Amino acid sequence: MRLFVGIAMPEAACEVLEDLQAELRVGRFADPETFHLTLAFLGEVEGEAQRELHEALERVEAPGFALRLTGLGTFGSKAPRVLWAGAAASPELLALHRAVGRAARRAGLDLARERFRPHVTLARFAPRMGAEDLERVRRYLETYAAAPLPEVAVGEITLYRSHLRPGGSVHEVLEVYPLGTG
Ligand code: 2AM
Repeated sequence: MRLFVGIAMPEAACEVLEDLQAELRVGRFADPETFHLTLAFLGEVEGEAQRELHEALERVEAPGFALRLTGLGTFGSKAPRVLWAGAAASPELLALHRAVGRAARRAGLDLARERFRPHVTLARFAPRMGAEDLERVRRYLETYAAAPLPEVAVGEITLYRSHLRPGGSVHEVLEVYPLGTG
């Protein structure tokens, strides 16, 4: 199974993000039901490693905290590929990111050592967008990049399964692990 661990956006935040998403007239929208911030992408995990991962995630020790969403932006060098809502890399978020990484390694998983860029994906763009669509994205960001976003109370982490489908991946919640109250 293709797995990842993330912070699920609570309903109130999903509503705000969905409203912003709806203003975008281009791209493939991420499902608001599963808006999340990825803490660790684990790739294919099978059998025994899955059980060990579950046990390791149950033992993650980190306090709950307030996650600050900072604004909208895009990934992609020449052309935008992903529209996201970014999150402040607070000490609490970085500590949680490290703790989840340790849990995955304890379960014997090999994590890619990518820079952690905390974000919630809202939409994905086709590799070759026409000038009109590029302009739409530019204007969208001009208007909404600094839109006010809610603070998110983080009290749990979520293990997701990613199903690769022709229309884009579908994210299924497998398990939720509560954090300490800190
Ligand atoms: P993204 O939304 O920025 O693409 C499931 O695919 C989740 O894991 C997504 O939130 C995705 O981030 C994240 N992810 C991180 N690294 C990934 C990788 N190498 N392949 C697929 N997804 C990855």
